Amino acid sequence: MQIKEMLYEGKAKKVFATDDENLVVVSYKDDATANDGEKKGTIAGKGVINNRMSNFLMQLLEKNGVPSHFVEELSETDTLVKKVSIVPLEVIIRNISAGHFASRYGVEEGIVFDEPTIEFSYKNDDLHDPLLNAYHAIALKLATREEIELIKEMAFKVNEVLKAYFKELGVTLVDFKLEFGKTANKTIVLADEISPDTCRFWDSQTGEKLDKDRFRRDMGGVEDAYNEMMRRVFGE
Ligand code: TMP
Ligand code: ASP
Repeated sequence: MQIKEMLYEGKAKKVFATDDENLVVVSYKDDATANDGEKKGTIAGKGVINNRMSNFLMQLLEKNGVPSHFVEELSETDTLVKKVSIVPLEVIIRNISAGHFASRYGVEEGIVFDEPTIEFSYKNDDLHDPLLNAYHAIALKLATREEIELIKEMAFKVNEVLKAYFKELGVTLVDFKLEFGKTANKTIVLADEISPDTCRFWDSQTGEKLDKDRFRRDMGGVEDAYNEMMRRVFGE
C-alpha cells in the first residue's frame, strides 16, 4: 500500500490518499484547538495517545457489533481507515451533565441522568456547529430518517459498551462526541476518533478530569491526564 497526496488537514489530523481509492491514511497531530478554533495549542504526545486509544476502542466496538472505519494501525500516529463521506452531524451522548449541557440549560455539572441523552449538531465551522434535531437534519438532507435511526441506535450501543469498559478502569464516561461516515457501498460506520479529545472522562474515585477539558479550561496537567488515560487503557 502506497501513501499518496494529502487530501485534507483538519485541526487535529491529516488525511492522505492511498493507491486504493477506498482507503485513506489518517495521521494524528499533537495540535489542539478549543472554543471553535479560537484557542490553539499543543498537547505533547496527544497524536500517539489518540491514535492508539481510538483504534483500540473502535476494535472493541467492532467486536460488540458496531462497525467502524478502522482497518489497520500503521504506526504510533498513523492509521489506515476506510474512505467515507462524513455525515455532517456531531452526535453527542451524555450520561452526566457537563460542558454545554450545563451552561445551555443553567444546571450544575455532575447531575447523573436517569437515562443517557442524545443531541446532534450540524458540523459546520462557519455556523459554529449549531444544535439541531433529527427533523432539521432530514430537512437539510444531511441524512435520511433511516440513517438517523441507525446512527442513534449505534451511538447508544457505543455508550453501553464504552461506559462498561471504562468503569472497569475506574473512569466515569461523562459524555462524548461521535461522527459517522458512509462507505463506498453506502454503509454507515463509526468514523473520526474516540479519545480524550472527544470524550469527558472523570476519575471514578476523585472526580479528577482526565480529558481535553483540562486544555479547554486552562487547568494545567493536560499531558498528565492524557498519559493517565493511556496508562489505564494500555497499562503503560
Ligand atoms: P459539550 O459539552 O462542549 O457540548 O461537549 C460534549 C462532548 O463532545 C464532550 O465530550 C467533548 C466533545 N466535543 C468534541 O469532541 N468536539 C467539539 O467540538 C465539542 C464542542 C465537544
Ligand atoms: N470545537 C472545538 C474547536 O473547534 C474543539 C473542542 O472543544 O473539542 O476547537
